[in-house]
Amino acid sequence: MVSDTSVTLGGIRLKNPVIPASGTFGFGFEMAACYDLNRLGAIALKGTTLEPRFGNPTPRIAECTGGLLNAVGLQNPGIDALVSDIAPKVRALCDTPLIANISGFAVDEYGICCEKADACAEIDIIEVNISCPNVHQGGMTFGTDPAAAAAVTRRARKATSKPLFIKLTPNVSDIVPIAKACEDEGADGLTLINTLPGMRIDIRRRKPVLANRTGGFSGPALFPIAVRFVNQAATACRIPIIGCGGVSTAEEVIEMMMAGATAVQVGSANLRDPLACPTIIDALPAVMKQLNIDKLEDIIGII
Ligand SMILES: Cc1cc2nc3c(=O)[nH]c(=O)nc-3n(C[C@H](O)[C@H](O)[C@H](O)COP(=O)(O)O)c2cc1C
Repeated sequence: MVSDTSVTLGGIRLKNPVIPASGTFGFGFEMAACYDLNRLGAIALKGTTLEPRFGNPTPRIAECTGGLLNAVGLQNPGIDALVSDIAPKVRALCDTPLIANISGFAVDEYGICCEKADACAEIDIIEVNISCPNVHQGGMTFGTDPAAAAAVTRRARKATSKPLFIKLTPNVSDIVPIAKACEDEGADGLTLINTLPGMRIDIRRRKPVLANRTGGFSGPALFPIAVRFVNQAATACRIPIIGCGGVSTAEEVIEMMMAGATAVQVGSANLRDPLACPTIIDALPAVMKQLNIDKLEDIIGII
């Protein structure tokens, strides 16, 4: 029997559950020289804000055991460039569902960006990254407070009828009230997890490695933490979940799905090996056979 790797996410059929994670794959077209983008389940585009951003000063990437720290600071050309130039350019290269990743520093910024993404024919799914500081409330991250997460979700929901996923931060002691707040405000799904805050020090220079001092930790060491978050959210909520964090093999895709994920994002692995996603996709059928899985959708949340 042929292994069925397809999954349905927000009502959209993906040929497989493997999605490059936002910020690790540019806007997709940069990677088209490496392989055919049609092979991917979907593509999460680089994080986009209302205004263009230059990002943080360099150095802004630090390699660590088990992963890396980044403080890129959401460098991007702004939502208008995404909808008018970039999304059509990516769409000309592939039919793969495109996920716009939206960041903001005030509730209304998220709302305006979602309205613009909603009006863009090439965008299929909107993923709202709430790991950003709320400048109107002392810089507290939206994703660490159920009320702030609810406010962003409510505004984004009003702005779009496209499938709306809220991407949550792991920097909380209990993910359940935050996940449920997003679900209650009409999110169609959740993405978990973003990076964990971290810091490295250059002991010779006696200075932080990153110019920003701190950054977000990602990569293989994040995997068990991400599986735990996905399982907790999947147990508490009914909406689909995109699992993300440390995934670099087909076995890990399957583990993430058993924890409750409907699809899986691959982030830092793309920086180490640009062919990480197609390699995982190629390996999936053989691993499914070994594990007696005919249809990948059958294992979602099976534990
Ligand atoms: C260099 C870099 C840039 C990132 N930029 C974004 C971003 O713009 N928006 C976002 O939601 N997540 C961003 N992330 C987080 C990833 O999408 C992902 O959630 C995280 O890295 C965990 O997955 P991984 O361990 O597979 O990398 C970024 C991660 C890295 C490493």
